[in-house]
Amino acid sequence: MKLHRNLITASILMSFLALSGCTDNNDNGQDNQQEEDSVEESTQTDEDNDLNGELEEDENNSSDSDSEESDSESESEVEDENEDEVEEDENTVSIDMEDDLLNPDSVKVLVNKQYALPEDYAPEDLVTVEVPTVLENPEIRQLREVASDALTEMFAAAEEEGIILHARSGYRSYQTQVQLFNSYVENHGEEAANRYSARPGESEHQTGLAMDVTSESANYQLSEEFGSTPEGIWVEENAHEFGFVIRYPEGTEDITGYQYEPWHLRYFGEELALDIYESGLTYEEYLIERGIDIETGE
Ligand code: DAL
Ligand code: ZN
Repeated sequence: MKLHRNLITASILMSFLALSGCTDNNDNGQDNQQEEDSVEESTQTDEDNDLNGELEEDENNSSDSDSEESDSESESEVEDENEDEVEEDENTVSIDMEDDLLNPDSVKVLVNKQYALPEDYAPEDLVTVEVPTVLENPEIRQLREVASDALTEMFAAAEEEGIILHARSGYRSYQTQVQLFNSYVENHGEEAANRYSARPGESEHQTGLAMDVTSESANYQLSEEFGSTPEGIWVEENAHEFGFVIRYPEGTEDITGYQYEPWHLRYFGEELALDIYESGLTYEEYLIERGIDIETGE
């Protein structure tokens, strides 16, 4: 069964919620954002700049070692191909627990309340995104290169259809997530914070593969209303073509642990994003349906 969110139904539901005075979430969204602004804007530190410098160096180093390895890799490829024929359906995107789900450098990495990233993990190929951004903080204007390129393509395709998107919050270091989460806890308490903010180490933003997007019609904020704007609807219908998935769809809090976030896009690569999108499932459900034994629950 396809569980793709019915956008018309969703927008009608949103209207009902607004009319019935059920605006707690929306108020939280606004509050959160104001806080996020202040936390994010206050994180423009020298440390961020140092980190960017080190990352460029690492990137050069790793491409050198990649080319040294390529000869021995091609020798073993012949053997690997034979094995692949036996065990993999060629239409299925391969997902390996160690190589992908537990590997922070894989675009398929699983990050959630059960699967945390190491505190010292930072991607080695962060770049500043080449799309309009809302906030000035240089750290959060970054993504891993592959995700940034996909974001550029997606924003351009949207613009061709008259849809203008803005990027708000991309890469966040472990330390930035510490500050953000603590400020939410201070203002709203831990139970509430846990419903909309990842604890440090548990945020996809630390992978450099997640970007929060918004639009002028959503006042450049991250709120549930974005999901029923023309921009939010376009994103829901098209993001997978560029390798992105709305990671916390409406009505999946019991699975993902987070409230609806129509703005939070996670890059998985086009092949896997299409597969997840077509399944109509969250990433956790998709993995389970594929028989991959992941832990779930708080
Ligand atoms: N808002 C999402 C869950 C995060 O903090 O990563
Ligand atoms: Zn996000």
